[in-house]
Amino acid sequence: MSATAVSPPSQPFPQAFPQPFPQQSPSAWHTPLAQPAQEFPTTPLRILSGQVPAGLQGAYYQNGTGRLARGGEPVGHWFDGDGAILRVGFGEGKVTGTYRYVQTAGYRAESAAHKFLYGNYGMRYPGPLWEHMAKILKGTSIKNSANTSVLALPDKLLALWEGGNPHSLNLESLETLGQESLGWLKSGQPFSAHPLQDPLSGEIYNIGVNAQCDLAIYRCDAACHLIKKAVIPLKDVPLVHSFVMAGPYLVFLISPVKINLLPLLFNQQSYADSIEWRAERGTKIIVVDRESLEIVSQGRTDPWFQWHYGNGCVDADGNVRLDFARFDDFTHINQVLREVPTGKVKTVAHGKLHQLRINPKTGQVLSNECVIDRHCEFPQVPASQVGQPWNVTYLIMHRDGAATGQDWFGTLGRFDYASDTLTTVDLGEGYYGSEPLYVADRMSPERGWLLAVVYNSHETQSELWIFDAQAIAEPVCRLALPSLIPLGFHGTWRAA
Ligand SMILES: [Fe+2]
Repeated sequence: MSATAVSPPSQPFPQAFPQPFPQQSPSAWHTPLAQPAQEFPTTPLRILSGQVPAGLQGAYYQNGTGRLARGGEPVGHWFDGDGAILRVGFGEGKVTGTYRYVQTAGYRAESAAHKFLYGNYGMRYPGPLWEHMAKILKGTSIKNSANTSVLALPDKLLALWEGGNPHSLNLESLETLGQESLGWLKSGQPFSAHPLQDPLSGEIYNIGVNAQCDLAIYRCDAACHLIKKAVIPLKDVPLVHSFVMAGPYLVFLISPVKINLLPLLFNQQSYADSIEWRAERGTKIIVVDRESLEIVSQGRTDPWFQWHYGNGCVDADGNVRLDFARFDDFTHINQVLREVPTGKVKTVAHGKLHQLRINPKTGQVLSNECVIDRHCEFPQVPASQVGQPWNVTYLIMHRDGAATGQDWFGTLGRFDYASDTLTTVDLGEGYYGSEPLYVADRMSPERGWLLAVVYNSHETQSELWIFDAQAIAEPVCRLALPSLIPLGFHGTWRAA
């Protein structure tokens, strides 16, 4: 294990963001994003309603962008914010919350300078061109924001970001230990934000797309020691956000995006602005053998863009089945994500849950069906079902009738493939949700709970809501968080 210490000694709380809420936000959902979130030390959480299920024993972690401005200047894209981690610990009759920024080198440097010093996914390098070129050569032109997801290993928590190394944190205190090589990653080597763990073997799979658009596939043991690595050249495709496990296969749906290198190299465009949608190429399908990491088949189908899959498996007929949130293209959803930090989302881009069936031997698409014809994202399944046959996909959706991007996710969804039934629970007017994470009950593993951070705009308060996953309805428990937590990206659970 090789954590390079970059973190200063633990800082006293509260930290350096004394601005009071609320600042004027153009949309009710935007308030938690309008000012930098304040860290809080491990604090007992107040129960607002219901009871904490006794079978919830462990820790919930969620990563997201804690601050979206610096020195009065806004970021260029939601993905540009500095990563901050929420931990909610359950056990021994207590529930506590902790929230801390990931102390990346970039976060610390920009905090000291009170201004942006790096380029980012949606931001150009702020200095002169010669400086930009010199930093490209050193691999330091773009900030590792450590803001996308988390992976709980036996001895550390990893804060994940798609473009570089993870950062390791203390599992309890969330103190940043440093940029993490895992003993085999080179400095700056991408270790992406959507690893998948095989529930049967415990092996962890992940990917990384480098500056040359090579897709690396990593097969690791349960402690993230590398077992095997393979590389698939993607020529000019710079963005593969996630992938899916399906029995003995890994499946990649490569959306038709292309990087334009010259404007990126000469700092005329940000990374996000350099990505071009090329619908005529269609979506490329790559099926990989999970043990050898060799390509089994490749295919091509209609163009679309997806960030996230729900799950995949091999059905009794030997074919792969998987589901994902499908967008018509990259351009519109990327524009929505640019607009999120402003609170004025004018662009419409709806993700819709689709189920795809593929012959893994040929890469041929057998069917592609829209399962939920309504805006939804962050599809989820229980960790015990990853890559295995499953029936229920959970997700977050827009409220019924929401017409444009002005609204935010306000409905929890449970789609049951066995009965072809969508069950929803409306969070209520003025309540805004995030990714629902399925957590197995410690004492009755056939039961489960859905945990989601919800922003309550009536009380200007962030809350953690707990739902019964089998029959989603009113939350069984609502917990108040000590301060506002921006609606984040992805979470994980570590059983006690
Ligand atoms: Fe993601």
